Amino acid sequence: MSSERVPSSAAASSTALPASPHVELAKGVNGLDKIVLRESRGSSTEVYLYGAHVTSWKNDHGEELLFVSNKALYKPPKPIRGGIPICFPQFGGFGPLEQHGFARNRFWTVDTDPPPFPTPTYSKAYVDLILRPSEEDIKIWPHSYEFRLRVALGPGGDLMLTSRVRNTNTDGKPFTFTFAYHTYFSVSDISEVRVEGLETLDYFDNLKNREHFTEQGDALTFESEVDKIYLSTPTKIAILDHEKKRTFVIRKDGLPDAVVWNPWDKKAKAMADFGDDEYKHMLCVEAAAIEKPITLKPGEEWKGRQELSAVPSSYCSGQLDPQKVLQSS
Ligand code: BG6
Repeated sequence: MSSERVPSSAAASSTALPASPHVELAKGVNGLDKIVLRESRGSSTEVYLYGAHVTSWKNDHGEELLFVSNKALYKPPKPIRGGIPICFPQFGGFGPLEQHGFARNRFWTVDTDPPPFPTPTYSKAYVDLILRPSEEDIKIWPHSYEFRLRVALGPGGDLMLTSRVRNTNTDGKPFTFTFAYHTYFSVSDISEVRVEGLETLDYFDNLKNREHFTEQGDALTFESEVDKIYLSTPTKIAILDHEKKRTFVIRKDGLPDAVVWNPWDKKAKAMADFGDDEYKHMLCVEAAAIEKPITLKPGEEWKGRQELSAVPSSYCSGQLDPQKVLQSS
């Protein structure tokens, strides 16, 4: 694959960000352009135009909530290891395209005039990015589309990502895609982490030739490599970090599946852009649409939304109480 993508400076020069204390265009690693969003109470997030890739999400105490590898390369066309890569138009190896599709290694631009959302965004800290196919892209995936991503920070520091994909084909042809927000959460110690909300669900195990299994009744815990695609998952999933006394809550809409991934020690060592021990401090839980690919006719639009919040875990007789998190709105 060619590394001659649109230079980031060219992408940035076409950006006309409104003057705002909440939204800033800055230079990231290797001079790549990034947008920094800041919310009044102190939370922040950063998104690179390269891949529309969120690489940081900090709470109002300045604590980083996402995992990004110390060995992440920030060198196109290699995707950035960590944060929130966008998998589009193909999740994983579920099709003929490169692993996880190409959206994560294209230069996106700021969308200065996005179509309005049906419900207004109350946040002032947000940015709209857009990806349209280049001529080269159309040779790989012969479709015309507009992919709009809104990244927004809520007043309480919640991180909201909304994807809108529109079929703009003029040849009358529909297209089909799979999708994921490949979120890498930062955790203190993977062996102290539990995931609530996926019990008793069916899943495909990527480590066992995508064979179909059904999960046990208990919360997920981790003691070895995991790479599973849970099907028809609830709209809310919780990740409880016992040591940090922190719970991440993922709320999602339009994304029925959820991938859970941790490479563990052997695979970690085999990845050039991932530290040998870093698997202990990350967990991917990915809101996705994989089992039933999305089909859009010309003019149709799909929307997929993920909202992340990080809340202190409540204690109940010395035990973290996930039910409170899952039941609260
Ligand atoms: C996960 C997949 O979503 O991403 C795994 O389920 C894959 O199979 C992992 O190994 C990382 O993919 P990549 O392309 O970023 O190394």
